[in-house]
Amino acid sequence: MLALIGITGQTGAVAADALLAQGHRLSALVRDPARAAARAAQGVRLEQGEARDAEALRRAFDGAEAAYVMIPPAPAHPDPVGFYVEVATAARQAARAVGLARLVLLSSEGAHLAAGTGPILGLRRAEEILADAAPRVTRLRPAYFQENWRSVFDLAATQGILPTMLADLDARHPMVATADIGRTAAALLADAAAPPLVELEGPERYSARDAARAIGAALGRDVAPVQPPRAAWEGILEEAGLGAAYARLLAEMYDGINSGHVDFSGQGEQRRGRDSLAGTVAAWVRQAVPA
Ligand SMILES: NC(=O)c1ccc[n+]([C@@H]2O[C@H](COP(=O)([O-])OP(=O)(O)OC[C@H]3O[C@@H](n4cnc5c(N)ncnc54)[C@H](OP(=O)(O)O)[C@@H]3O)[C@@H](O)[C@H]2O)c1
Repeated sequence: MLALIGITGQTGAVAADALLAQGHRLSALVRDPARAAARAAQGVRLEQGEARDAEALRRAFDGAEAAYVMIPPAPAHPDPVGFYVEVATAARQAARAVGLARLVLLSSEGAHLAAGTGPILGLRRAEEILADAAPRVTRLRPAYFQENWRSVFDLAATQGILPTMLADLDARHPMVATADIGRTAAALLADAAAPPLVELEGPERYSARDAARAIGAALGRDVAPVQPPRAAWEGILEEAGLGAAYARLLAEMYDGINSGHVDFSGQGEQRRGRDSLAGTVAAWVRQAVPA
């Protein structure tokens, strides 16, 4: 049996689909079992609880040989890095309590860096805490999610603008679809010889202008990238619903991406996903337009 956190989320849902299709038995930690009722119907064992709750995690991990540890984003939390630490600490305690053989942590590019990475610092801390949680620990470090563009997709659709904090509109950055992350997580979870570190990006790199082009093509309208001034970033993020601490961290992360500081370490296995940004975006348009 394999255990997962975040089965109703972007990467966890894809990982669960892939593992169920291969015939694996699954157990999952969920906050609200009603939201995962379809998974229960597929035979997934659901354990109700919070990711910070070591006892709930212990129940979810019990009987599993490997677990997918996805630390949920906590954008309203006053101490987002502290939240990552709390969840990682609970997961370590649970993994050791049940004698888990293998653990796959969803981390991030830039988690090898000690500062200047915004929320990625929480994942660096999680990597440190979970390093001895199981005999075999795999850190899966994906690039910037292609799905991050989803938060400004509606503005592109309604106003033809794509706000971005990427400073050089033509600089190409690694980006990866969450479907590729989920499939990679599934493969690593099922692999008794999974490597300690995997860095994952998509089939090609994209600039903000590439993203505007892909979104414009999918929508069938012109879409222009627009760059709010640096001084306005945190206010814009807070208006979008993020807490002040998370907004500050995200602004720091974009500074790090723009300067080239936030990047892959180049260590471990370098893997490529298969989904293009154009394909990811086309799926959003299909979902928005009922057949
Ligand atoms: N965005 C990026 O570019 C990027 C890049 C690298 C790494 N990451 C990392 O990727 C992770 C996010 O992965 P994702 O996109 O798959 O997540 P996601 O789609 O945001 O899903 C979060 C999942 O966690 C569950 N959840 C939320 N809060 C919870 C809590 N307190 N206790 C238990 N479960 C909880 C949600 O379930 P319910 O809501 O149904 O309860 C959902 O299944 C984060 O750790 C982030 O730092 C992001």
